[in-house]
Amino acid sequence: FDSKVNMNLLESDTFINYKSQLENLKVVKARLGRPLTYAEKVLYAHLDNPHEQEIERGVSYLKLRPDRVACQDATAQMAILQFMSAGMPSVATPSTVHCDHLIQAQVGGAKDLKRAVDLNREVYDFLASACAKYNLGFWKPGSGIIHQIVLENYAFPGQLLIGTDSHTPNAGGLGQLAIGVGGADAVDVMANLAWELKAPKIIGVKLTGRMNGWTSPKDIILKLAGITTVKGGTGAIVEYFGDGIDTFSCTGMATICNMGAEIGATTSVFPFNNSMVEYLNATGRSQIAEFAQVYKKDYLSADAGAEYDQVIEIDLNTLEPHVNGPFTPDLATPVSKMRETAIANDWPLDIRVGLIGSCTNSSYEDMSRAASIIKDAAAHGLKAKTLYTVSPGSEQIRATIERDGQQATFEEFGGVVMANACGPCIGQWDRQDIKKGEKNTIVTSFNRNFTARNDGNTATHAFVASPEMVTAYAISGDLGFNPITDKLVDSEGKEFKLAIPHGDGLPQRGYDAGENTYQAPPADRAALKVSVSPESDRLQVLTPFKPWDGKDAEKMPILIKSVGKTTTDHISMAGPWLKYRGHLENISNNYMIGATNAENGEANNVKNLYTGKYDGVPATARAYRDEGIKWVVIGGENFGEGSSREHAALEPRFLGGFAIITKSFARIHETNLKKQGLLPLNFTDLSAYDKINPEDQVDIIGLTELAPGKNVTLVVHPKDGSATWSTPLSHTYNAEQIEWFKAGSALNKMAKN
Ligand code: F3S
Repeated sequence: FDSKVNMNLLESDTFINYKSQLENLKVVKARLGRPLTYAEKVLYAHLDNPHEQEIERGVSYLKLRPDRVACQDATAQMAILQFMSAGMPSVATPSTVHCDHLIQAQVGGAKDLKRAVDLNREVYDFLASACAKYNLGFWKPGSGIIHQIVLENYAFPGQLLIGTDSHTPNAGGLGQLAIGVGGADAVDVMANLAWELKAPKIIGVKLTGRMNGWTSPKDIILKLAGITTVKGGTGAIVEYFGDGIDTFSCTGMATICNMGAEIGATTSVFPFNNSMVEYLNATGRSQIAEFAQVYKKDYLSADAGAEYDQVIEIDLNTLEPHVNGPFTPDLATPVSKMRETAIANDWPLDIRVGLIGSCTNSSYEDMSRAASIIKDAAAHGLKAKTLYTVSPGSEQIRATIERDGQQATFEEFGGVVMANACGPCIGQWDRQDIKKGEKNTIVTSFNRNFTARNDGNTATHAFVASPEMVTAYAISGDLGFNPITDKLVDSEGKEFKLAIPHGDGLPQRGYDAGENTYQAPPADRAALKVSVSPESDRLQVLTPFKPWDGKDAEKMPILIKSVGKTTTDHISMAGPWLKYRGHLENISNNYMIGATNAENGEANNVKNLYTGKYDGVPATARAYRDEGIKWVVIGGENFGEGSSREHAALEPRFLGGFAIITKSFARIHETNLKKQGLLPLNFTDLSAYDKINPEDQVDIIGLTELAPGKNVTLVVHPKDGSATWSTPLSHTYNAEQIEWFKAGSALNKMAKN
């Protein structure tokens, strides 16, 4: 296979690099001298330095070179604004942006889409123009959900992709490692920095036998979530193996990988197999399928004898459909036990809405099987007892089910086909059928069911199931219904059992691409302008942060000494603030407003050391900054745990912060601070945290000799005029990161190179 094979049908200049990946892998294998799992092979084949990288699962930090970046529209805004501030002419790694999160489901597809386009015009215009300028592919609103578009167009076996969304692992169904990250990581890879990941442990899930009847791939992950709980996959990749993996479709595998996010896994993956070949062929990528076959033995399969850190076995022959929830995706109940469990827990049995689709379950197969159940019910004169919505994952799926009749079937049933977008899955749902606070049950084929996620109502009991089960529930309207054993009554009063669902995995007539919703970046981009209105309150162009002035910092006030848990939610709250993700000035108004001030036990009320007046944390930080005064934050343990939100590090830097000094950091937040040019430092003597008074002033000494492993000194000038005292502070900077600090940020450093 001499010729170059394109990564996809949309880019003429990106090629699959199996040859060099295999070479990397040979280097690693010679060093490790042990058989590797499939996930390990793909991961280590993408090492920045396969010759020297330390590799110990669960211990080392790997520096990797992903093949591709995908961003959804909510997280892409700040990522691209940051990338722009680096001053590079184009992204260093192939990247795409997908408009899917900002579309609210109200009345149905076309109208909802139009309203969203009007409402979010400035965000979409910004993303479209920035993508054109910096050479990213842009998927317009209406094109579909990021993970479905990636599966249809960009995923292929052996690829390493990062995406700014938790359900990026969906593409593991096509044999690649697809990992959800924060915006800061995406920016690094777009700007050609290596990407760091703690070497994951590998959980092997052995599937044996074959599913039958009402059981579907979704039930495998629902069952697994019940076994592992929401934390069971943390720090690990879930790799499937066993004879059962060859018995279902590629899109079914994607469903399973998608929901691996619900057990906290870094990602999930299936090794390259024949269902993937069929899917690649059906999506116009036979050349990739052929190319992958060449590398199947050496690269795209697990080595014989590869060892997993843990093995979980699931017997598909006996696997029953499951329903998980409410309020958490790991509360798994087999459908046969649902009635008694719901009654025991006082969950409402009366189902109000059934929702199918989303990035998790909107394949052609899902739609066909759901439609087969509806047709069977229709033949018995039955329609939906509940409201029923369908969120197609992509324009291609929507157009294909329109052509092949499933859409008409849904509509005759009483269903509404929503826009090709996240919609109710992310709370973009203008639900009208109940009042806020009313206890009720909904059943979805989505992946998450945390309190209030879908409709903002904390009393809504949301259960997650396969699209087949959701559809059966929509017909019966009863959470206790078991289609395997229970009968329904037809329009003539006769009892019948629903027939077992069936449907094609892939459309016999091929996919209908539908409307073209892709914007390719033009070849000549030099003269293009990015549209950001200076009046916008949602978007703001970033100015690069100033480099370090080369001096130790003296007599700095403590903006806040926080007590108790300080998560990224305390540092940069979500909720209504999400609207300002692209506007650093506006979103900085939430900086540390959730943290508790040690001085008075209050949130968002701190004393300005120079005026003596109390004000909010952001206002006080701004006042210091505007007077040219650097400041620090003092914090406790595991400071910044929670999400990878880069705003939690951008905001203190923007507001003039110099150092964040804590007992310990959550690692991602610590790295994010370093990237933005702030100093994350740790007390080596933890009692110093208690000794510091929030009204003291501090110096940080030793910065001119900042070096890996070498402490700096905190000098404290007590407010009460007593003698100054000092304490050593440690840090985790390596040589490269010290350059970030000196340059003012990692991006400044990249821009200089
Ligand atoms: Fe969108 Fe829900 Fe998936 S928010 S990306 S459909 S998990």
